[in-house]
Amino acid sequence: MSEKTFADAVLRWYDQYGRKDLPWQREMTPYRVWVSEIMLQQTQVATVIPYYERFMAALPDVHALAAAPADEVLHLWTGLGYYSRARNLHRAAKRVVEECAGQFPGDVQGLTDLPGIGPSTAGAIASLSMGVRAPILDGNVKRVLARYHAVQGWPGEKPVHDRLWAIAEAHTPHSRVAHYTQAMMDLGATLCTRSKPSCLICPLQAGCQARMLGEPTAYPQARPRKRIPVRQCLMPLLVNPQGDIWLQRRPDSGLWGGLWCPPQLDSREQLDALVIAQGWQAAEPEALSPLRHTFSHFHLDIQPLLVRVDAPDRVTESGQVWYNLREPSRLGLAAPVKKLLQRAELNTQADERTSP
Ligand code: ADE
Ligand code: SF4
Repeated sequence: MSEKTFADAVLRWYDQYGRKDLPWQREMTPYRVWVSEIMLQQTQVATVIPYYERFMAALPDVHALAAAPADEVLHLWTGLGYYSRARNLHRAAKRVVEECAGQFPGDVQGLTDLPGIGPSTAGAIASLSMGVRAPILDGNVKRVLARYHAVQGWPGEKPVHDRLWAIAEAHTPHSRVAHYTQAMMDLGATLCTRSKPSCLICPLQAGCQARMLGEPTAYPQARPRKRIPVRQCLMPLLVNPQGDIWLQRRPDSGLWGGLWCPPQLDSREQLDALVIAQGWQAAEPEALSPLRHTFSHFHLDIQPLLVRVDAPDRVTESGQVWYNLREPSRLGLAAPVKKLLQRAELNTQADERTSP
């Protein structure tokens, strides 16, 4: 598909299916589009709408925003998150009023000089509110273009990013640029979604390389996985004669803060020491199959051990509990612990059935 037919297909789709009734599509002034684009940077359309309506009612133009106290601006932003967006918005409004008499810069370069406006947001403001032929490359558009051209590599890398910008630039039409911009965003948000693209009803299906290769979700490539270290631990499931399992509450800070877990140990010696310290007699530990749990910064390889002890069924101290697998108390359990306890239940039941 040539550039022209690409844009034509996108525009025809827009005429039929594009969104035309979003609040920022009424009266598309630079101010109104700017505020909407900043809100939409990290927040979904449905969440943004009521905030946007309130913001516009309170601060209907750039002069009102520039004159507002910072507290008022942050108050209107409360609940949207990423508050630096609101602070930048306020600073940028003051600049536009003080340095440009309330007139927004009419090109991408001037817009990106304002705080909080990157190249894609500048492209969106310029194309949507001023009809300037400026490309955009937000997350949604990146995905559509990476798929359409089967662009290899992770867009976080500069060559890949540069290539996507060049593609975005080449496809941007000379007329109806506002509709095209909105359509590309909508296409990425509604059809060419991250995990379930609707290729069969997509206006770009005829030329889409990723679709032809049969694997649209392979593009764009994800950030290469960092290699993270592996730590190991023993996790004894200490079982009393009633079949209950000993859990400890973890400190509030740190891994699994406040959740209940079996002890996490480094060695058999530590296990022996623990059993002695509790005054229990223990049977020989049985190894259960290992389990890997991955945190953001390391893998934890867990070697669970089933250890029968002659402990009485009572809570010894606060922060410890005999956990009854059949009538589980309402405690917070870390995900791998929950999995282990389910397995332990199978194990202890099997034992009951086979014991004489
Ligand atoms: N996300 C960013 N800009 C948008 C817009 N103008 N419409 C819908 N979603 C968006
Ligand atoms: Fe995305 Fe599929 Fe359309 Fe290609 S054909 S742009 S993968 S929805």
